[in-house]
Amino acid sequence: MAILEKLEKASLREIMQVAFREHILVPAFNVAYLPMVAGIVEVLRECQTFALLEVSRPDITRFGAESFRAVKEEYDRFGDPKLTRLHQDHVPVIDEEGAMVDWRALIEEALQLGYHSVMIDGSRLSFAENVRVTKEVGEKAHKLGVCVEAELGAVLGHEAGPLPPYEELFASGKGFTSPEEAAQFVRETGVDWLSIAVGNIHGAISGVAKDAKKVEARLNIEHLQKIQSLTGIPLVLHGGSGIKKQYVLEAIRNGITKINVGTEIRQAYEQGWRESGTVLGAQKVLRQRLRELIQDYYGIQGSALRLAEKL
Ligand code: G3H
Ligand code: ZN
Repeated sequence: MAILEKLEKASLREIMQVAFREHILVPAFNVAYLPMVAGIVEVLRECQTFALLEVSRPDITRFGAESFRAVKEEYDRFGDPKLTRLHQDHVPVIDEEGAMVDWRALIEEALQLGYHSVMIDGSRLSFAENVRVTKEVGEKAHKLGVCVEAELGAVLGHEAGPLPPYEELFASGKGFTSPEEAAQFVRETGVDWLSIAVGNIHGAISGVAKDAKKVEARLNIEHLQKIQSLTGIPLVLHGGSGIKKQYVLEAIRNGITKINVGTEIRQAYEQGWRESGTVLGAQKVLRQRLRELIQDYYGIQGSALRLAEKL
């Protein structure tokens, strides 16, 4: 469709600004196995939905994404510039096991490879240190026209070991992003999109828990509204798998522009693989789950057309 050429020509920054203004959700699907790229793009075409494909360190080190380069090559083969962009997810300064990470090298690698956006995750640092690293990444990435996402607050769940009971976490607001800090963070860093914690948690990535059904998270919408009113940039909801639908829809009306979805599409792909022992079988179960998410859960079929109209 000719109108989609507008999306092809637009920068990711422009697309995300329109999505933010118009409350159109842009999902970011984690690529835990390379053949997921083709499966995801096929469903995006069917549904005329715009989305990001993204890859994080755990996708590479714990699952089958292989490397940032391998995902980029797969993306070059199957991605569709009218419907997709490629994002480097979670580059932590301190990782989920407490180890220091050579984050500069990882970000540099994605910039060299031509990723359209990167995420520096300084959420395990002090506020001042998080500002410092985010600013540094922004200065480098923006020169290349690459968008930067950062995280403030703690989206728990990737760490090994059991989480406190979810209801306890939610009620205490432990790790929630402070709206005032978020405002200061955005001002001082010039970050493009901000990942926030308002009740969302990550699906597990280790042990038997990585195969279990994720807890159904809720979101504190009032808290989200405060963050939105003080920041004015696209907000990102990590831990997108398994959040109750009513909360996701309400969140989209209140500043959430990007939602990261990992666990449930990885588990769908793995289920298909177990049942069939073939990549085609795994992709089939993945595609089915994606259709349900896009059509029945987020209601974003045709989002590429709506975005293109407003560009
Ligand atoms: O950055 C990745 C996402 O936050 C994925 O979270 O695995 O709980 O869907 P999820
Ligand atoms: Zn995440």
